[in-house]
Amino acid sequence: MLKNKTIVITGASSGIGRSILEMLAEAGNNNRIIAASRGIGKLTGFGENVTLFPCDLSNKEGVDALFDKAEALFGKIDVLICNAGAPYYERYDYEDWGRIERIFSLNTFSCMYSYSKYLNHLDGREGHIVFTISAMGEMALPGYALYASTKFAMKGFQQAIRLETPKSMKITCVYPVSTKTNFFEVGGAGHKVEQPFPVQTAEAVAKATIRGIERGKKQVYPCPVYLPSRLLMNVLPPVKSLYLTAQHRMLLRFLDRKKNDGNKAE
Ligand SMILES: NC(=O)c1ccc[n+]([C@@H]2O[C@H](COP(=O)([O-])OP(=O)(O)OC[C@H]3O[C@@H](n4cnc5c(N)ncnc54)[C@H](OP(=O)(O)O)[C@@H]3O)[C@@H](O)[C@H]2O)c1
Repeated sequence: MLKNKTIVITGASSGIGRSILEMLAEAGNNNRIIAASRGIGKLTGFGENVTLFPCDLSNKEGVDALFDKAEALFGKIDVLICNAGAPYYERYDYEDWGRIERIFSLNTFSCMYSYSKYLNHLDGREGHIVFTISAMGEMALPGYALYASTKFAMKGFQQAIRLETPKSMKITCVYPVSTKTNFFEVGGAGHKVEQPFPVQTAEAVAKATIRGIERGKKQVYPCPVYLPSRLLMNVLPPVKSLYLTAQHRMLLRFLDRKKNDGNKAE
C-alpha cells in the first residue's frame, strides 16, 4: 500500500476515484490527500489527512486552483491521480461544437494541462502521474464515438510524453473495462444504459491502480480477461464482429428507450 505520500486525486467523489481515496486514506497509511471534484463537499467521514477541494476541472482555472491548493498544503505532490472524466452515450449524428469541446475539456485537455503543470511543479524532483484512461482508449464501441476519441487521444498523449519526460517522473495509465459506477447514468443523461460486458467493480479497479502505482507499472489492465479477449478478437475477427454487433444492438435499444421516455414525458 502507498504510505507516507502527498497525493492528489481528481474525480474522487464517486466510483473509481472514491474507491482509490478510501483505500489510500485508510488509517495507518499516513497519506495526506487532496480529493477534488465539483461535488466533493458531499463526502464525510474522512479525517484531517484528507482535504476535500471542490472545483470544476474542465477548465484551466479549476486545474490551476487545485495545484495552488496542493502547493500551499503539501509543498510537493508525490502522486497525482488524474481520474475525473465523464462519457456521452449517444448516436453521433449532430452538429454541436460546444458538446465536443465539453467532453474533450474534461477527459483530455484537463489531463494534458495537468501533466504540464505537474512537470513544472516537480522541476526535476521525483513524482508519479496516473491517468485513468479506458479500455475504450484502445477499442471504440458504438454509442461512444466522442468518449472513445477523448480516451484514444490520451493513449496517444501518454505514448509521446513517455519519450520525452524526465526519468524522475513515472507515468501509469489505467485501462478499466466497463465498471459499476455513476458513469453510465451520466452517459445516458437519465435514460437507462446497458453496460458493455465484461463488468468489474470500482474496488477492483482501485486495487489494481494502487498496485500499479506501487510497482511503477506503465500500463494497468484491471480486468484479467481484457488482454486475452483483445488477442482473441485480433486472431479471430468474427469474434470481434459478434461482440460489436451485440454492442450495436444495445445502442439501438437505448435509442428506442430514449424515444419512449421522450414520448411518455410529452
Ligand atoms: N465506469 C466505467 O465503465 C469506466 C471505464 C473505463 C474508464 N473509466 C474512467 O474512469 C474515470 C472515473 O469514472 P467513474 O467510472 O468512477 O465514474 P463516476 O462515478 O461518474 O466518477 C466520475 C468522477 O469525475 C468527477 N467529475 C465529473 N466532471 C467533473 C468536472 N467537470 N470537474 C471535476 N470533477 C468532475 C465526478 O465528480 P463530480 O460530479 O462531483 O464533479 C466524479 O467524482 C473516468 O475518467 C472514466 O472515463 C470509467
